[in-house]
Amino acid sequence: MTRKAKKAGRFALLLSLLLCLSACSTAPQEPPAPEEKLISVGFSQVGTESDWRVANTASMESALSAENGYRLDLRYAQQKQEQQIVDLYKFINQGVDYIVLAPTTERGWETILSRVRDSGIPVIIVDRMIEIEDESLFTCWVGSDFRQEGKTAVEWMEKTFADQPLNIIHLQGNIGSSAQIGRTEGLDEGLKAHDNWTLAFRQSGDFTQAKGQELVEEVIEKGLLDRSGNTINVIYSENDNMSYGAIDALKKAGLTPGKDVYIISFDAASTALRLVLKGEIAYDVECNPLHGPRVKNLIEQLKEGKTPPKYTYVEETAFSQDNLTEELISTRGY
Ligand code: AHR
Repeated sequence: MTRKAKKAGRFALLLSLLLCLSACSTAPQEPPAPEEKLISVGFSQVGTESDWRVANTASMESALSAENGYRLDLRYAQQKQEQQIVDLYKFINQGVDYIVLAPTTERGWETILSRVRDSGIPVIIVDRMIEIEDESLFTCWVGSDFRQEGKTAVEWMEKTFADQPLNIIHLQGNIGSSAQIGRTEGLDEGLKAHDNWTLAFRQSGDFTQAKGQELVEEVIEKGLLDRSGNTINVIYSENDNMSYGAIDALKKAGLTPGKDVYIISFDAASTALRLVLKGEIAYDVECNPLHGPRVKNLIEQLKEGKTPPKYTYVEETAFSQDNLTEELISTRGY
């Protein structure tokens, strides 16, 4: 390289260094990281016990996403209220903008919710309810009418089985949850109103498939299904996952669901609705889990300084072979 070329090279290097320095000193302030503008939401979720719960979590995650302007701190409680209380304390310490609580059980929320109220964080209750005297301890609630769900199931049993005697196996959800309380109440009213309905078995299967199967295996082993041929055997299962377990137990014992035993289920998840089409589940009462957009809407109202309704009940329906098609199942969101 000639001396002239070397000199030109050094000059170009110096020039670009100067340009870079001046650019750095006059560069505008970086905008704040988008993270800082997100609305923070602490969500205490019951657990992962059922298809319903998985669909509910997915709905919340997609509505309260970063793209929609939210930072969601999702915590699972494995169906334990103690864990939910710990998580709520964590949300207070973090200073989240909103707390969303899907309560495991109805009772025992006074102390922790008083602490949340003192912190000034609004609380939205979702899915199940809480039983509390001082309603100012939460901002609003959105979820299902579980008593109505139980009533719907019993009305269908009355219409379908007319005056025939029933032998009922009752698989309950986790005791003390609104879903269990409402659906059990529905059945209890039916039992009271019909002398020829017998409650042969009642136990909690905690809304899980494994426990549903275990319980029905126990029922079969103990000979609690009526084999006289004069009585209709009914499994009243308080959610779809316990119904899947019940079907497995029946088939293992050589029994045919829909023929030897009729299953009444709750949730209406797509897997269960396909079992309705196959005749293995006789009737499935909907419990709608798609609360994400509903909760987002409530938060938006609160952000705008509005007062949303204290209670919002979701409209729900029920399915048998009479009103169900594969097309309908595929258009539903879960
Ligand atoms: O609270 C809703 C209930 O909880 C659903 O019926 C059940 O599947 C879930 O675990």
